[in-house]
Amino acid sequence: MRAITIPEPGGPDALVWSEVPDPEPGPGEVVVDVRASAVNRADLLQRQGHYPPPAGAPAYPGLECSGVISATAPDVTEWRVGQEVCALLAGGGYAERVAVPAGQLLPVPAGVDLVDAAALPEVACTVWSNVVRLAGLSAGETLLVHGGGSGIGTFAVQLGVALGATVVVTARSAKHGRLRELGAAHPVDYREQDFVAEVRRVTDGRGADVILDIMGASYLGRNVSALATGGRLVIIGMQGGRKGELDIGALLAKRGTVAATALRSRPLAEKAAIVQGVRAQVWPLVESGTIRPIVDRRLPMTEAAQAHRLVETNDHVGKVLLTVG
Ligand SMILES: NC(=O)c1ccc[n+]([C@@H]2O[C@H](COP(=O)([O-])OP(=O)(O)OC[C@H]3O[C@@H](n4cnc5c(N)ncnc54)[C@H](OP(=O)(O)O)[C@@H]3O)[C@@H](O)[C@H]2O)c1
Repeated sequence: MRAITIPEPGGPDALVWSEVPDPEPGPGEVVVDVRASAVNRADLLQRQGHYPPPAGAPAYPGLECSGVISATAPDVTEWRVGQEVCALLAGGGYAERVAVPAGQLLPVPAGVDLVDAAALPEVACTVWSNVVRLAGLSAGETLLVHGGGSGIGTFAVQLGVALGATVVVTARSAKHGRLRELGAAHPVDYREQDFVAEVRRVTDGRGADVILDIMGASYLGRNVSALATGGRLVIIGMQGGRKGELDIGALLAKRGTVAATALRSRPLAEKAAIVQGVRAQVWPLVESGTIRPIVDRRLPMTEAAQAHRLVETNDHVGKVLLTVG
């Protein structure tokens, strides 16, 4: 088969479409013939040599895919050859084929195109596991989503709205119209507005009950300031740096919680539990059309370098897909 390899870490042109050995299904695995994968921020770091795949994961980038099952290990009984699926991966989605632990497979939701289904697994699993399972967002609460126009952000906005929360987002103003369409009540241009003041203004001074943060260090202090009493801050990205200063007094006064998680390095059993939760709680919302995959554009896998250039500009809204075949 062919896959995107990274012979030398570097810029987008480090991505090379190459002949590589075909994957075989190990115990508990299936092989998926990939129809599409999607670019995630982490792929850019992996390409630059800063985010190696976890032990045992395929060397090629790609944290999710959609496609058709072409082989199953003898111990896999719940999936069969020919089924259309999408999957959460620890790597290897930028390829014609990938071996996937069966616990990380999801059916393509009814009403969703097979290619577009590649936009869902990583964002659905990340957002649901953090915003619902960890932070316990509930109806009537306020959710602040940083980077509302990102793949993660566009999904978090839709899930927050579906759960009955009021959603505040930070994003460049060019993306505000799209975010309002998705249900965001209050888009904030973080370059021109103080998001802490805006969150306080739209919550009558209460603050956000849950914050999904992708910036890390540069937003830590302001995020704590923006929390409501009993608020939960969940950090999933470090785009603004990894070392920040936490005012414990401010957090304590609010009886607040700060958590940080990564999905890719979790043990298989934890990923399978998250995938099961997503299938039970999120897939019905996708099948009813309440949540849609937000696809900025599709590019052929052979143009992965161009896709990475595009994502680096941050001009996209939602996901950039890479198609195979
Ligand atoms: N921990 C985990 O398990 C996990 C899993 C998946 C993703 N993530 C993280 O989640 C983040 C989003 O991933 P993605 O692939 O969806 O990203 P993406 O589509 O590449 O989007 C990145 C976003 O960052 C926004 N941004 C840049 N500077 C900002 C600032 N100062 N304030 C607010 N937003 C800002 C950009 O929006 P503007 O154009 O509006 O600036 C852009 O939409 C990444 O940091 C990624 O590493 C973590």
